[in-house]
Amino acid sequence: MSIAANSPMQRQYDEAKATCGDAILLFRVGDFYEVFHEDALTCGRVLGMTVTSRDKGDNPTPMAGFPYHQLENYLAKLIKLGFRVAVCDQVEEARFAKGVVKREVTRIVTAGTLTDDGLLDPLEPNLLVSVFTPNPGKPDAEAFIGVAWTELSTGRFEAGVFLRKHLHDELARLDPAEVLLRDDDSALSPGNQYSWAVTLRPSWQFNSDEARRQLCQHFKVQSLEGMGWDLQTDAPAIAAAGAVLAYLQETQKTTLTHLQRLIPSRQGLTLEIDAATRRSLELTHTMRDRERAGSLISVLDQTCTSMGARLLAHWLAAPLRELKRIQQRHAAVGEFVEGTRLRNTVRELLVGIFDLQRLLGRVATGRAGPRDILQIGGTLSKLPRLKELLEPCNSQLLYDLQAELELCKDLHDRILTTLRDDCPPHTRDGGYIKDGCHIELDELRQLARGGKQWIAQYQAELIEQTGISSLRVGYTKVFGYYLEVTNTHRDKIPAFFERKQTLKNAERYVTDELKQYESKVLSADERALELEQDIFQSLRNETTSFLEPLMKTANVLAQVDVLAGLAELAVKQHYVRPEMDESHALEITEGRHPVLDAASPKGTFVPNDVSVGGNHRAIALITGPNMAGKSTYIRQVALITVMAQIGSFVPAARARIGLVDRVFARVGASDELSRGQSTFMVEMVETARILNTATDRSLIILDEIGRGTSTYDGLSIAWAIVEYLHDKIGARTLFATHYHELTQLEKSLPGVQNWNVAVKEWDDAIVFLHRIVHGSADRSYGIHVAQLAGIPKTVSQRAKEILEQLESDHVNHRGDSKITHPKRKKDSPVQLTLFDFGTHPVIEKLQRLNVQATTPIEALQLLGQWQKEAME
Ligand SMILES: Nc1ncnc2c1ncn2[C@@H]1O[C@H](COP(=O)(O)OP(=O)(O)OP(=O)(O)O)[C@@H](O)[C@H]1O
Ligand SMILES: [Mg+2]
Repeated sequence: MSIAANSPMQRQYDEAKATCGDAILLFRVGDFYEVFHEDALTCGRVLGMTVTSRDKGDNPTPMAGFPYHQLENYLAKLIKLGFRVAVCDQVEEARFAKGVVKREVTRIVTAGTLTDDGLLDPLEPNLLVSVFTPNPGKPDAEAFIGVAWTELSTGRFEAGVFLRKHLHDELARLDPAEVLLRDDDSALSPGNQYSWAVTLRPSWQFNSDEARRQLCQHFKVQSLEGMGWDLQTDAPAIAAAGAVLAYLQETQKTTLTHLQRLIPSRQGLTLEIDAATRRSLELTHTMRDRERAGSLISVLDQTCTSMGARLLAHWLAAPLRELKRIQQRHAAVGEFVEGTRLRNTVRELLVGIFDLQRLLGRVATGRAGPRDILQIGGTLSKLPRLKELLEPCNSQLLYDLQAELELCKDLHDRILTTLRDDCPPHTRDGGYIKDGCHIELDELRQLARGGKQWIAQYQAELIEQTGISSLRVGYTKVFGYYLEVTNTHRDKIPAFFERKQTLKNAERYVTDELKQYESKVLSADERALELEQDIFQSLRNETTSFLEPLMKTANVLAQVDVLAGLAELAVKQHYVRPEMDESHALEITEGRHPVLDAASPKGTFVPNDVSVGGNHRAIALITGPNMAGKSTYIRQVALITVMAQIGSFVPAARARIGLVDRVFARVGASDELSRGQSTFMVEMVETARILNTATDRSLIILDEIGRGTSTYDGLSIAWAIVEYLHDKIGARTLFATHYHELTQLEKSLPGVQNWNVAVKEWDDAIVFLHRIVHGSADRSYGIHVAQLAGIPKTVSQRAKEILEQLESDHVNHRGDSKITHPKRKKDSPVQLTLFDFGTHPVIEKLQRLNVQATTPIEALQLLGQWQKEAME
């Protein structure tokens, strides 16, 4: 299909193209989506689509295309590659068209505005975020900016005011799919280091007065104050939200009724976790490969529905800071922990529930198909039983949640009496409305079916009448019904057969009678299809009118799912309910690292205690050999705290946690080399952040801070940091360090305590006990670890010599010249061979063996013994 220049279709194409900016335009022509010009070349390049050109004149038009039913597939690929895609559909039935079929851009699909199930990850929210900076020309770290975010697939819509310097933390928390930015704002210029798409929007779209008007109009309210907004102080947030709304209206070209409220996001209500901490604690992704597997959420997520999985991610992005709400969640989890039957039955029910939030997103944007509505009906079927189970619950939260469940019984009955159980996803081919639900539809179907019966009968009659045994009635879309007679029977054709088409071995005919019945059957089929579509449309409208209660219900289902899932985890992994209070204490008995604990064979992870803050010294210095478990230990303390504040039980025998306002976790530069910047600089910037923002209610985890520079610089910085935390901040702090010198601080600072990780020394080897004990370590055992790792023995031996010498020279502060050339012991080999991977004990025994003095029997015995050792 090509478009002739200046044809009406060309004009349609040009008009469509003009409305969709830089998006690739998919232009529906018959059963295909076509791309033309530059778009075709782009698709050819990035998707390997075949680009052709029908018009071979001076100005050939490059074009490419794919069958319409592959739309989702192509959208997915293009969006993933970072493109925006406009879909231009035929908006009237071709057969009703006068002239060229009417076409319109029905939506512009972008990374942050997806609603199709096939394009979305069920476990992850898909957020569109907008950032409003009042004065982007003069970026000021202390300026107030507005950030708004929405998830079109579920209708969540929130906004808040933040300090500009916290923008990156906010974005890390939200992990958006797409960010809208004023075109004069350089905060996140395209090509930045992040994975999200940046879309620049005209700055006038971020006007707070206009935004307020648009939002009021959209929500059909007089003022936003009723939703908790302050028009003065929240102006930046409202401007950002207005830009989101304008963008959605522009790209979606549909109703957005499920965006029902703009919820203010207030700082101070949640446990703050900055971007570096989020990464370093591996809350939702591992640091190394950004995988979900191996992160905290992969362990916590025992939910049965994707709504639950996404809500859990949301809770983890913003743990609570309000004692009462935390305790309410603990009580609810506790009730599910105690009530095994309750938990199991609720979870069984949840397994059969569909993603109501995203189904409703499609209902509200007018994109729901029959199967979507049927799934809403199926979900509603489970509600009465769920309500019944939760109603007798003692915990306030569970009781309140069940009270909010709206059963929507009328809608439920209507859906189940209207739609067939096996209904198709799309309306186009019909076959989704049940028999017996609409009289006229039943009649039309009867007629169509009756017509088909008649045809069978007619065929039999004609065979009888003409004696042509192979005569058959067939049907094609183009020619309609026909009679087919093979050439061998040509002479038996009666006169009333009217020739219609000649094939190689057969002729096709029609008769008046056949034509008559054809029109009856076809028009009945056609009318039935239209009627089905009408019935479905009214069912969809009815569903839309239930949007508000249904969204409330979806929220309840997600919460119940998360709470029951946390309980399931608590039972499986033997967690306890943490005691929470307003104190500054952090006391954990037999705490375990949630991720390593879940991954280790039962009982093999070594539990450890911690007590900092409250009646204990607030700062714990943890020394100990490499590989001993320092990093694991301090992280587990932070993870347990975060878990407690999202409402989860925790991996410990007992835990008492005084509410934490901010968690900071920093890894020394040497431990995190993959980020491309001067790692030490990054380490210091991030540490500065802690010193400037932590309070006495915060929890700070420092892992080898100061290690990224020379020993004495690093030591001095670490020393000064501990003093500052001690004197000025008083936050609960765990500091894992190689600098044993720091442990002297215990004597001079009353708030510092020393801990170390026990190892057992055995001959020349060490055994890691992973147990935290009081006091400081005196050695690093780094050389032992190097040896374990397979460093050639010559190197580790030489390192030992150097170490001994350094220690005996007592090289300390300012001792650089002495380190330059420690003497070699006499017989240390200098040359290393390429294949020297460290000597196996068997090789050493072999080297020592006096062959002359060994009898053949002894030799055989030794050989057997060594072989056994070598296999171990
Ligand atoms: N409590 C524990 N029980 C069982 N295994 C543990 C425990 N703690 C740590 N480990 C194991 O020891 C390994 C090393 O732990 P970790 O990285 O915490 O050591 P580290 O002391 O920080 O070492 P380095 O000084 O080299 O940074 C971990 O990968 C883990 O498998
Ligand atoms: Mg470590």
